[in-house]
Amino acid sequence: MKTTTPVMPDQHDLFVDAQAVLAGGVSASMRLHPYLGRPLYVDRGEGAYLFGLDGTRYIDFNMANGAALLGHDHPAVKKAVIQGVEMGIICAAETPYHEQLAARLVAIIPAAERVRFSSVGTEVTLVALRIARQITGRTKYLKFDGHFHGLTEAWLYKRENPLDADSPVVPSSGGVPASGADDVVMVPWNDVAAFEAAIARHGDELAAVICEGIHYNAGCIPPEPGFLELLRSRCTEHGIVFIMDEVLSGFRTNLGGVQAQYDVIPDLTTHAKALANGLPLSSVSGREDLMRALAPTGPVVHSGTYSGHILSVLAALATLDALSEPGLYDRLNATADAFYRDLQAIFDRAGVPARVQGMGARFGIYFGITEPVRTWSDAMGHDHELNRRFAAGCVERGVYFHGYTRQGPPGHAGFSLAHTPEDFAETLSVVEAVARELVA
Ligand SMILES: Cc1ncc(COP(=O)(O)O)c(C=O)c1O
Repeated sequence: MKTTTPVMPDQHDLFVDAQAVLAGGVSASMRLHPYLGRPLYVDRGEGAYLFGLDGTRYIDFNMANGAALLGHDHPAVKKAVIQGVEMGIICAAETPYHEQLAARLVAIIPAAERVRFSSVGTEVTLVALRIARQITGRTKYLKFDGHFHGLTEAWLYKRENPLDADSPVVPSSGGVPASGADDVVMVPWNDVAAFEAAIARHGDELAAVICEGIHYNAGCIPPEPGFLELLRSRCTEHGIVFIMDEVLSGFRTNLGGVQAQYDVIPDLTTHAKALANGLPLSSVSGREDLMRALAPTGPVVHSGTYSGHILSVLAALATLDALSEPGLYDRLNATADAFYRDLQAIFDRAGVPARVQGMGARFGIYFGITEPVRTWSDAMGHDHELNRRFAAGCVERGVYFHGYTRQGPPGHAGFSLAHTPEDFAETLSVVEAVARELVA
């Protein structure tokens, strides 16, 4: 019998072919790696690794945009999914597992008195805003420059020039009405004076203040001491609903998220990504009196065929079991601190202008910047050409850093609990070689 060895398509050819049938050649625009000029095509994932179509092993520092905190193909998560498959992949149905998972979240997440599941992060941030508008009877909301809350209409605005305090708010996407900008008040993160001025002017018109507790979507910009507390107290004073979007920050530094870490409790909070370790699941949760506004008890609509899908709910229960292991976050944070310190030391030794900022399992590398990055505008100085050369040099040597954008601040990177000391050591020696190349 004649056998043929399968020929692996070249990644560039695949991308060309994909463009003939997939819009833009991808299923999500941010999967096009802006520095590689194509997506990374993968065959499978395992632990800390992605395997390319030709079998190349990459140590992964994207980890499914932060969803796979336990690592790819985690055995307990896989077992949970198989349990859901054996239950008949029932969707659009409630089970006792939904109640169990909600009870776990109520126990873990400080703000959560009631929980509503959905499928993706984008959906729950919008539902949180809808609840806030219903409760307050107001329509305006305050968000921070560059904070990412998904790609629905409400969040698709930016200040035209974030370096200019008086710059107007305009749509950040085609197809988004300019008139929606009238509802948006936008200020720089960590800027007390700008926030106070916005509250003095709009405080009694705002339905919500929303933030990423740690601004990971611009690398990693933690709140300055007292900043979250300030948001909390001004929201209380003006009857504004304070929404902390923990879609990315949730479970990253500890089980309770940023709100537990800083002991600042929002009125509503949103989770997704690491919640189900790679399965699509999100939640909006918060104060009982606010959550009661949701249908069927209240007038705010939210429902969906796939909301709280059984495979995802079971995966989340398994994920929370794994994340609840005593001492896990002490180890995670110690690993994180050592890794970020070692990365910074390599750049410093090699003379590469770069700043590493990380908290817990997620971090950002700012190229061309050596001072602390406190605000989004600080991060605007990121050198994308240097980042391109870094990412390309690493991927050539089997270490994968994703690229989200070619403009403005860098995206975020992260590791998983499956990364071993050997993986970190190998990564550091690759980074060392690439750093030397960058300055050669
Ligand atoms: C903070 C934050 N909120 C919301 C979202 C949207 O989540 P999803 O991609 O699941 O729609 C993201 C996604 O990156 C995010 O980082």
